[in-house]
Amino acid sequence: MEVIRLHAEEQYAEEIKALIKEDKDEKPASWQMSPQQVLTYIMGGKTKKGVTIEPKYFGQRRLVELAIATLLTDRALLLIGVPGTAKSWLSEHLAAAIMGDSSLMIQGTSGTSEDAIRYGWNYAKLLQEGPSQEALVSSPVIRAMNAGKLVRIEELTRIPSDIQDALITVLSEKSLPVPELNMEIRARNGFNVIATANDRDKGVHDLSSALQRRFNIVRLPLPVDLEEELKIVNYRVKELQGFTSAPKKVIKEADIKKLITVFRELRSGQSEEGDIKIKSPTATLSTAEVISAVNSSQTMAHYFGYDDANKPIAESIVSAVVKDATKDQMILQEYLETVMKSRKGWSSLYKSCKEVLDGKG
Ligand SMILES: Nc1ncnc2c1ncn2[C@@H]1O[C@H](COP(=O)(O)OP(=O)(O)O)[C@@H](O)[C@H]1O
Ligand SMILES: [Mg+2]
Repeated sequence: MEVIRLHAEEQYAEEIKALIKEDKDEKPASWQMSPQQVLTYIMGGKTKKGVTIEPKYFGQRRLVELAIATLLTDRALLLIGVPGTAKSWLSEHLAAAIMGDSSLMIQGTSGTSEDAIRYGWNYAKLLQEGPSQEALVSSPVIRAMNAGKLVRIEELTRIPSDIQDALITVLSEKSLPVPELNMEIRARNGFNVIATANDRDKGVHDLSSALQRRFNIVRLPLPVDLEEELKIVNYRVKELQGFTSAPKKVIKEADIKKLITVFRELRSGQSEEGDIKIKSPTATLSTAEVISAVNSSQTMAHYFGYDDANKPIAESIVSAVVKDATKDQMILQEYLETVMKSRKGWSSLYKSCKEVLDGKG
């Protein structure tokens, strides 16, 4: 069967196999590889026998060490940061490397119910037989407890606070009472939770202090400079295009650098030289948006035969920035005039952006 997206453990099965095979260090209970090998899987490198491991996360090694070490303690891991800082990405790859299974996951929303975290009932069975273990519908948390695995909870702070608190017993007692059956489900060795949360979200529900104490918090930063962001973008775009039927005609690195610069300046509210203040648009312009902007510019350039890279890049900039039509449009307009217009070597991009923007007006 051809699926659109593979789980991390499927996509990187060869790397994981090699890391396990060559693992000489001690493995924690129910981990499939040692913490050192997990670190290599995430940061990239070569195994002793020379198998290349692609880097998955670009950033400080120290943060990844901290995340891995947390999962070895009785505390759960909470990855926090602005949108697009690879929180979900890192959480998936950690679960893939440590357990070979990143699929136990709960997507937190304002509608997440306690059943989704604990358990529900199969009502047909419940009516027929009364409460029984067979009628119990396990959540991913229970499945992870039973198997001694990691469960991922995405966007924890979007879940209403009283429902989040269902996790307190699980994390502190490592067990979950089922009063209807007069029993408790107890976590096996290896069970832990990796949660992610945005700290720039509307409608967040802060963690109660009781729950917060059960987590070690690791804050993932935005890429520090243009070079680092370029590394992430190049790597991910190459990988994305390896999966879809790929556009062959590539936009040059200099063009990608311009696009990243635009996003970085609008995101931070000042020009790279630091001398011009810029208003930030409503949209979060994270690395994830840069990746998809580069990807869509390349797709357009390829299929519709643009010779001038500035046109598709201008299209992607405008469509990423202008979300709230009037306000964002004004912000981008101002940016074009105050920053882009006078910058050396940017006049074609400036013209293309203006054309796209005016076409919209
Ligand atoms: N430091 C980074 N290292 C590797 N990939 C990154 C980094 N920052 C962002 N990305 C990429 O950005 C994309 C979005 O990341 P995601 O995990 O969805 O963000 P969020 O923090 O909102 O959960 C991913 O495809 C990821 O590869
Ligand atoms: Mg996420």
